[in-house]
Amino acid sequence: MSKKKIVVLTGAGVSAESGIKTFRDHGGLWDQYDPYDVASIDGWYRDRKLVLDFYNVRRKQLQEVQPNAAHLAIAGLEQDYDVAVITQNVDNLHERAGSTRVLHLHGEMTKVRPENSFNDQDGFSEKEVFDIGYGEIHLGDKAPNGSQLRPHIVFFGEAVPSIGKAIDLVMEANIILIVGTSLNVYPAAGLYRYAGAGVPIYIIDPQDVPVSDSRVHHIKEVATKGMETFMNILKNK
Ligand code: OAD
Repeated sequence: MSKKKIVVLTGAGVSAESGIKTFRDHGGLWDQYDPYDVASIDGWYRDRKLVLDFYNVRRKQLQEVQPNAAHLAIAGLEQDYDVAVITQNVDNLHERAGSTRVLHLHGEMTKVRPENSFNDQDGFSEKEVFDIGYGEIHLGDKAPNGSQLRPHIVFFGEAVPSIGKAIDLVMEANIILIVGTSLNVYPAAGLYRYAGAGVPIYIIDPQDVPVSDSRVHHIKEVATKGMETFMNILKNK
């Protein structure tokens, strides 16, 4: 018998217990910084140094944190299920926890690409994306094509290249699990709506969630505890 398909959609909350700040919680990153300065395409062209420094600091922080029990539990689901993780996070904690199929909707912090590598299909060429690990990039750091390197991040104001692939995964899922996202940023926030009729949707978040869909079961807990609850629900299904 083929394995059931679980699609796990994650946001900043899944990494909160690893010590990475969320964006919109009280004291979150967007209390400290204006996203339109540090994470938008207009902000990039206005002040590249500010944007590079913002991600240089966050990349260094990423090196210092570890995946938590929620990342590990999500990776562990692969033993019994066909799992695809669709994450809005630009950290690499799902991969470091052992998840083998991770789609990064908003890019990846450990990767860079030239700023002028646009094409009509996906906004950039995957061939020009490369890994810098936890290193820094600075103004004047150039790609082989001679153009300034930029973070491999989907800035506000840019298209989300992998949204089509994400929709296809959600449409095929037997179970949807959403962990730690305020469901504020589209198109990611609308993805769960593509789930088939009758597909259960579990949401793990300690706060109220802005959804009213009869398929949704809200597990009102932090990610690590909520994953234990979710695993028990799966066991008893
Ligand atoms: P948000 O900061 O908007 O939301 C974080 C969610 O995690 C909230 O619903 C919190 O209640 C929840 N949360 C907090 N601590 C938690 C914990 N320990 N366990 C589980 N949940 C917890 O983050 P996102 O929804 O991921 O985009 O934000 C979406 C996008 O907005 C990000 O990808 C980023 C940001 O601007 C870009 O930078 C392009």
